[in-house]
Amino acid sequence: MCVSKNGDMAEQAGDPLFQSHDPIFDRKELLHVGHVPDEDRIVGRDDEIQSVAAEVGAITRGDPPNNVMIYGKTGTGKSLISRHVATRAQTAARDNEIDCGVLYIDCSEANTETRATRQLALSLKDQTGYQENIPLRGVGTMEYYQHIWRILEDCFDAIVVILDEIDKLDNSNILMQLSRAREAQKTDAYIGVIGISNKVKYRETLDERIDSSFGHRELFFHPYDASQLREIMRNREDAFQPDVLEDGTIELCAALAAKKHGDARKAIEILKEAGELARRTGSETVSEGHIQQAQEVAEINRIEELTSGATVHAKLALYALASRIITGDRETHKTREIYERYVDICNMVTTDPITENGLYRQLKEQAFLGVIESEKTGGGRSQGSYLLHRLVTDPKHIIKAVRRDDSLEELPAYDHLTETGHAASNRDVDLSSFS
Ligand SMILES: Nc1ncnc2c1ncn2[C@@H]1O[C@H](COP(=O)(O)OP(=O)(O)O)[C@@H](O)[C@H]1O
Ligand SMILES: [Mg+2]
Repeated sequence: MCVSKNGDMAEQAGDPLFQSHDPIFDRKELLHVGHVPDEDRIVGRDDEIQSVAAEVGAITRGDPPNNVMIYGKTGTGKSLISRHVATRAQTAARDNEIDCGVLYIDCSEANTETRATRQLALSLKDQTGYQENIPLRGVGTMEYYQHIWRILEDCFDAIVVILDEIDKLDNSNILMQLSRAREAQKTDAYIGVIGISNKVKYRETLDERIDSSFGHRELFFHPYDASQLREIMRNREDAFQPDVLEDGTIELCAALAAKKHGDARKAIEILKEAGELARRTGSETVSEGHIQQAQEVAEINRIEELTSGATVHAKLALYALASRIITGDRETHKTREIYERYVDICNMVTTDPITENGLYRQLKEQAFLGVIESEKTGGGRSQGSYLLHRLVTDPKHIIKAVRRDDSLEELPAYDHLTETGHAASNRDVDLSSFS
């Protein structure tokens, strides 16, 4: 065994600066974002596993597979299930003496055809004893394809290629190249493609962009419900020390996540964050209160992410709507009402306001992103109709997310708004009480 001298000493001396025992987590890695759970920790996706296997499974019998596109929101298990099925297909194929490879490309990183083909070629080289040098730069797509075909020809009977987040690819030529490879006599190996996209809309662009050669089935993964999320988390309970998770914490975390998004990744992250919170505050257990707090942090992060590309005016508009909700007594507000508060706020942060119509467009954009909901209301025959806007999340989270923008941190904090709420809800009041 190799233990460094210093390490040994520190352990024996038990330097109190570093706890030798984590009081909250036992196997924290089970909660890491990139962690791939073992087969027996995958829950609630039996039908999906069957469906993906039905499309690519022919490979294991030496027959041509179907290509498949998987659609679904983030955190619905698309990447996990694809990798899982591909790996099982590989093992089953090998049992039948079929040389089957699995290639995984994250197209949010390899987002051009050149990058994607380079990565394909390099990971094929990695998996085989391919001797030829594959240059990292200075060569084009064609050269990478040639390496790919040569390796396939030499080393494989079949291959499953997972193209994750495929909508991030700048063009879909790779789909055509892969699906036509046999026909074009580039290789005899069967190629099965599993394409994954968070955007159902990608279907429409896909239809236009690729020709019928990429014949494929489509599968849709739905968000998890509370009981599935509960099972997914229960199966990772051993990330925590025994008896650290209080009764009801996993149930609460699952219920909150199911209500908001049904995203397993977020549910697991919240559970982990709750553990971190408990540890930071010296608590011996993780309580429902920790889950609530962790959920709040996650929600603020989500809003910040959603609005990261938004203009300062859109953020000020969101802030204006949130502050009206906090200081008033209604959930919904007209564009005009939001605009009035927005103009006041612009004065506070010495920004020139845009027009009411401009603000209206910013609000529409936020409705599109899912931060607010806008609904047309008839104001009676003489008044015409108008839009009413509401926040889809707690206004407190909006205030916090907007104030994370460096240029907007001087805006009043949530606590300040609630304290001065009554005065600020009256527009005629001097806004110094508001700042
Ligand atoms: N059915 C499941 N059982 C266990 N863990 C799951 C399940 N579905 C998703 N997860 C976990 O949730 C996270 C997100 O899953 P992922 O497959 O990356 O979702 P997607 O690709 O749809 O965004 C991963 O950490 C994964 O391990
Ligand atoms: Mg994914």
